[in-house]
Amino acid sequence: MRQYYIAGNWKMNKTKSEAVELAKSLVSALKDGKNKYMIAPSFTNLDAVAQVVKGTNIRLGAQNMSTDESGAHTGEVSVLMLKDLGVQTVILGHSERRHIYKEDDAMINTKVKLALKHGLEVILCIGELLEEREAGKAESVCEEQTRKGLSGVSAEDMKNIVIAYEPVWAIGTGKTATPEDAQAVHAFTRKILTDMYGSSVAENVIIQYGGSMKADNAQALLNQKDIDGGLIGGAALKADTFEPICKTY
Ligand code: 13P
Repeated sequence: MRQYYIAGNWKMNKTKSEAVELAKSLVSALKDGKNKYMIAPSFTNLDAVAQVVKGTNIRLGAQNMSTDESGAHTGEVSVLMLKDLGVQTVILGHSERRHIYKEDDAMINTKVKLALKHGLEVILCIGELLEEREAGKAESVCEEQTRKGLSGVSAEDMKNIVIAYEPVWAIGTGKTATPEDAQAVHAFTRKILTDMYGSSVAENVIIQYGGSMKADNAQALLNQKDIDGGLIGGAALKADTFEPICKTY
């Protein structure tokens, strides 16, 4: 059965000392937690946070990585560098990467396959813009991002894939998708995964929800059949707000 998976995406927040302090608080707060947990600090704080979470029940995640293993890619960070620091998970295709930095599905797919080749777990983010939802295109956008993002990924490699449905209009806005609306897209996405890989694979894929998830709406979201966890931004920046989400169940 699927396990709840609660992940914190710290985005471009925290100095090194702040990141270490938060990681230490979470290690102690979550040591008896029953679920799967991950935190993703910025690249510059990965090494320091790695020392704190090593050997605990909190996975270390990166927020992005390069399409290439090494070479002339000024400003990029490679999968080999992440692995060397102890990173276990990488978030790919986040809407901020797609929309601010213009990453397209082909580029994201290259990254997905490279991360899997090196044994990293991938959280592949999908989600529609407000205008796409209003035009009735939420499902078709998510389908395209899922199919293209996973193009060439084998059924065997799907055990290292997590999907995060993050409706772009709900990120950092305080607007959450209703549990029913989120569930509808999650169920639809699982249907696409069933079409691509068969039901035994699809039933085991964790699909997280992301977008203004907080302690007070986490339970209603996590109660939905196909919502298996959360990818949390703002509420992951303090132990006081992240811990209750992690301990919803
Ligand atoms: P918020 O929780 O701040 O809406 O961010 C969600 C998100 O983008 C996580 O990746």
